[in-house]
Amino acid sequence: MRKNSGKSKIIRKALALQKFSQEQQGKSIGLVPTMGALHKGHLSLIEMSAKQNDITIVSIFVNPAQFGANEDFAKYPRRLQADAKLCEAAGATIIFAPEPKDMYPAPLQTFVKNIELENMYCGAYRPGHFAGVLSVVAKLFNIALPSKAYFGEKDFQQLHLIRKMTFDLNFPVKVIGAKTIREKSGLAMSSRNEYMSASERSDASSIYAGLLEAKKKHRQGEFSAAKLKAIIKKKIESAGGKIQYIEIANKSDLMPVKAKISEKAVILLACYFGKTRLIDHLEL
Ligand code: PAF
Repeated sequence: MRKNSGKSKIIRKALALQKFSQEQQGKSIGLVPTMGALHKGHLSLIEMSAKQNDITIVSIFVNPAQFGANEDFAKYPRRLQADAKLCEAAGATIIFAPEPKDMYPAPLQTFVKNIELENMYCGAYRPGHFAGVLSVVAKLFNIALPSKAYFGEKDFQQLHLIRKMTFDLNFPVKVIGAKTIREKSGLAMSSRNEYMSASERSDASSIYAGLLEAKKKHRQGEFSAAKLKAIIKKKIESAGGKIQYIEIANKSDLMPVKAKISEKAVILLACYFGKTRLIDHLEL
């Protein structure tokens, strides 16, 4: 049962949210960090938090620090009023929607970085992206003071890095990952899906189909990372997609599988359909 069923309130200032959270003694706070343009994946996180905590804070902030110069920061969908309604219906208590100048009153000189993994997988193509993500999540933890924080497994590398940051830096926060929510076609839900045309969106269902085909082959006894990657590449390319990377990594530490899979592993990939960059993953 959801603990909060009342109206939600929008807070715009970091200091005001920090003060609110400091005053909630004895109450559990769940934080759902988002960049808005909410879809069913986000709503499942908010609902989960609303069931598990007295207070659910949803942050909506398109974080400039995690976008590269030629990326989609300017065009990233922003619709606070519609998102606020969805948050309220899903059980949020507070919507934290700061302006960039409030989150970054002065240029950041202090970043949180994962020195092993920040330049691998998505990080290899998005320099500085994960330092931007980790730094803003660290700030959000310090502003919202949650005991639990909820993230989608869809951004698998991001979730891994957030867990590691939380462990390494002793944040008193339990990081909870939630299953990827998919459209009927299998396409992982993402705020960026709306950049695609109807036909690109339908072609992009080849991503999950390829992942499932590789998983099936693995279950049938195929342990070669190269062969499994080739299955996915073929499926995506024959639907018109352009691969950025496909890698298989050990689930425990996200280190790449060089030749044969020997422990629990996960396939990670990024590809383009038209101009839209999509990421996905599947645990083997
Ligand atoms: O996954 C996202 O939407 C963002 O990377 C996050 C975690 C909200 C940080 O800006």
